[in-house]
Amino acid sequence: MDVRQAEFIKSAVKPKDYPETPLPEVAFVGRSNVGKSSLINVLVNRKNLVRTSSTPGRTQLINFFDVNGSLVLVDLPGYGYAKAPPELRKQWQPMIETYLATRENLRAVVLILDIRRIPADGDVQMLRWLDTYGIPPIIVVTKCDKLSKNEQARQTGLIAAAIGRSRKELVPFSALSKAGREGVWQAIMESAGL
Ligand code: GTP
Ligand code: MG
Repeated sequence: MDVRQAEFIKSAVKPKDYPETPLPEVAFVGRSNVGKSSLINVLVNRKNLVRTSSTPGRTQLINFFDVNGSLVLVDLPGYGYAKAPPELRKQWQPMIETYLATRENLRAVVLILDIRRIPADGDVQMLRWLDTYGIPPIIVVTKCDKLSKNEQARQTGLIAAAIGRSRKELVPFSALSKAGREGVWQAIMESAGL
């Protein structure tokens, strides 16, 4: 993917504030701190278009980004962040679910998993939920740089088994080395019909 231009469109909480656009949209979900925002930055070749942080709970709104005027990428807050203030957590779930359930131009959801962890309940629930709504998941396994090749292969097998998918369905990625960037783009473009 040749990214010529990438820009922040706006942040939103409620559907009335989502940008009005006919462009295909792809959203990014996953546990808090898994690397959603870092993945988007690598995809668009920008260090800091999307804010990242080593503290979980960095992304608190739905953030929309335009790529080449032909595609919208959407960064969502993470789930499963136990330390988030309860009031904030209460707002996040309906915010994410409303977006996923109502956004008409949503073509696919990139579900990001940490290569070092067996998927948590939140991940499994999210997959089931995407299935219910007929939203195709693109499953990316990130932070591959943290493990050796052998450990990566082993973990990929365990993760695939835990979510009942074939290991071929998992797209390996590292925001640090940028390995897997093309593979993620390919899956996104195919889903977006571009
Ligand atoms: P929230 O918005 O809080 O839900 O987090 P997020 O999922 O957007 O994660 P973010 O991209 O902010 O990254 C969280 C931390 O993980 C940061 O310290 C990143 O530098 C680090 N990180 C993300 N991706 C990778 C990766 O592929 N490899 C390594 N080594 N670190 C990564
Ligand atoms: Mg984030």
